[in-house]
Amino acid sequence: MKKILLLNGPNLNLLGVREKNIYGDQNFVSFFEELKDEFPDVDLSYFQANSEGAIIDEIHRVGFEWDGIVLNAGAYTHTSIAIADAIAAVTTPVIEVHISNVHQREEFRHHSYLSAQCKGVILGFGLNSYRLGILSLMLS
Ligand code: DQA
Repeated sequence: MKKILLLNGPNLNLLGVREKNIYGDQNFVSFFEELKDEFPDVDLSYFQANSEGAIIDEIHRVGFEWDGIVLNAGAYTHTSIAIADAIAAVTTPVIEVHISNVHQREEFRHHSYLSAQCKGVILGFGLNSYRLGILSLMLS
């Protein structure tokens, strides 16, 4: 069974409460329960952290043995060379995902330090971006 981590960065613990017009009204914990039912043949885990170091520690923890990481690093996407280096350091493939289409938003969201180190990028499909991330890892 493939082991896949869904890894969320800052402010994503507030999904369902935060800027619902952009991020929707479902909280991630209930969405994660749906995903576990939908993918019974995948060993899915979920971790969220608001701090950069905790995200990096989690990438290191799973990044040499697990089968994939679906990463929404939130605003750290646009700022963090340290998370980009962590993705480059590990062997587990990382899929970068975003709920919103960041290219339709402010200019500072158009650049990702992470994309070049990731296997692929999925964005703009709401919470379905995570579903597509899992599916992409199941295909490989
Ligand atoms: C986000 C987009 C980022 O620009 C933002 O800082 C987030 C969420 C998304 O999923 O659309 O926190 O990663």
